[in-house]
Amino acid sequence: MAWEFRKLGPGDNVAVEAQRDPFAAPKWAPPVWHMPEGLVLIVNLVRALLRTIVFLVRNIVPLSVLSGLAWLGYRFGWLVPVLVLALVLVGLSVWVVVDRPAVVRWVVRPARSWWRLVSVYRRDWQPVLVTAGLTKTHKGREYLPSLVRVRSGPTSDRVLVRMLKGQAPDAWERVAVNLAHGFGATLVRVRAGDRPGRIWLEFVRRDALAEPIPALPILAPSDIDLSGLEIGRQEDGSPWRLRLLGTHVLIAGATGAGKGSVIWSTIRAVLPLMLGGLVEVWAVDPKRMELSFGRALFERYGRYRDDPKGGMVELLEAAAQDMNARAERFAGMTRSFTPSHEFPFRVVVVDELAFLTAYCPERDLRKRAESALAVLTSQGRSVGYCVIGAQQDARKEVNNLRNLFPDRIALRLDEDEQVDMVLGDGARDRGALADQISSVPDIGAGVGFVRLETTPDPVRVRAAYVSDHDIRAMVALALPDVDAEGAA
Ligand SMILES: Nc1ncnc2c1ncn2[C@@H]1O[C@H](COP(=O)(O)OP(=O)(O)OP(=O)(O)O)[C@@H](O)[C@H]1O
Ligand SMILES: [Mg+2]
Repeated sequence: MAWEFRKLGPGDNVAVEAQRDPFAAPKWAPPVWHMPEGLVLIVNLVRALLRTIVFLVRNIVPLSVLSGLAWLGYRFGWLVPVLVLALVLVGLSVWVVVDRPAVVRWVVRPARSWWRLVSVYRRDWQPVLVTAGLTKTHKGREYLPSLVRVRSGPTSDRVLVRMLKGQAPDAWERVAVNLAHGFGATLVRVRAGDRPGRIWLEFVRRDALAEPIPALPILAPSDIDLSGLEIGRQEDGSPWRLRLLGTHVLIAGATGAGKGSVIWSTIRAVLPLMLGGLVEVWAVDPKRMELSFGRALFERYGRYRDDPKGGMVELLEAAAQDMNARAERFAGMTRSFTPSHEFPFRVVVVDELAFLTAYCPERDLRKRAESALAVLTSQGRSVGYCVIGAQQDARKEVNNLRNLFPDRIALRLDEDEQVDMVLGDGARDRGALADQISSVPDIGAGVGFVRLETTPDPVRVRAAYVSDHDIRAMVALALPDVDAEGAA
């Protein structure tokens, strides 16, 4: 081991330069560092040892199980580990029968996550990240973001990543397509991590919402929670719950996007409370299409044909008036609303908001509808009023009440700019690709994006499809002697 200064010889390029000018100052090549072979060997041995320890620690569970079985086999013969395995399998089967969700939670999910971690993510981590440009090489050393954890669900994997210091989630969003192809997913979303410097990558393997969801079962009244009505499914397979208590809901979607299925799934979810008199639905149906079929279910129903001079507007004004009366009655008494027979929770469903606020030919009616809606949405939340509005066009010119609806659902939209108008700034960048939802009813109707209270990231959802047959059955349940068609 020694520093060695070497004079440039005739073979060196610099020397060739020097030869051209015999009076040039002598130039020296950089020193050459000779690493002794012994040291090279020691360093490599230490590295191999460290790698082995890391491997053992990372795979502690499967390795302990395997070595335990191998030891039993060695000590008592092969029959013993086979028997132990059979016993474990029997135990698991019994556990599945007794408490399936617990088995999924404690056995299936961890096993699947581990398998995906070793067979996909850890195996392809370096090549994919290098190709996608997410690694950095500095002074000959490669820096690789680290893979912290994998959580695998039935249709998607969530991968927690520690980014390189100085890296931002943007860098990952830009190469989301590379990552998806690299790890064999159909789509990758970048989500905020559990702390700064870390992000979750959401790899969608299979679309859990590709098939229509049939109408959900009608629950017992005591199981219904107005703060989280189950109306469909989220992308990860869990229920999509919609809050009505203390909020208003805007459903935006192009024609045929499935606004009707969100409305009907919601009505279906509260049906038992409607039958019990704790919830009332008042429906405004300018197009005379969506809601007329279940008209018998509604406490009040307004449509254009009944009274072009303002049947629907009167309904809204009556609601606003009653709401004001309630507000006066409750003033100072209570801040949270609990539905009762005297004061039922009132859901005002307006199928085409834009008709009332923009397209209605009579200017006076438009103004009256707009002001009734503004009153209801701005003050009705705490006194048991909830407005559910549907509309095709999310632009401001068409509905300037948009911001009075705290919860908004973006079904298929015609233009990408409309996504942020519905869900708020940056929603599309965070993955709400509502403009890319298929217009084929079986694939895309009822599919949309929502923002939940728990996370700023939009979640992909699909509403259950309540068919005409289901609506007829609902009417029959409410009014056994009224025929649905007759009622409509
Ligand atoms: N959740 C769903 N799952 C599967 N198919 C659905 C779903 N919702 C709606 N569809 C299908 O899509 C068609 C259009 O749906 P819907 O009438 O609800 O759209 P819309 O958004 O109300 O449109 P418009 O604005 O024209 O009234 C329905 O006839 C039905 O066949
Ligand atoms: Mg409709």
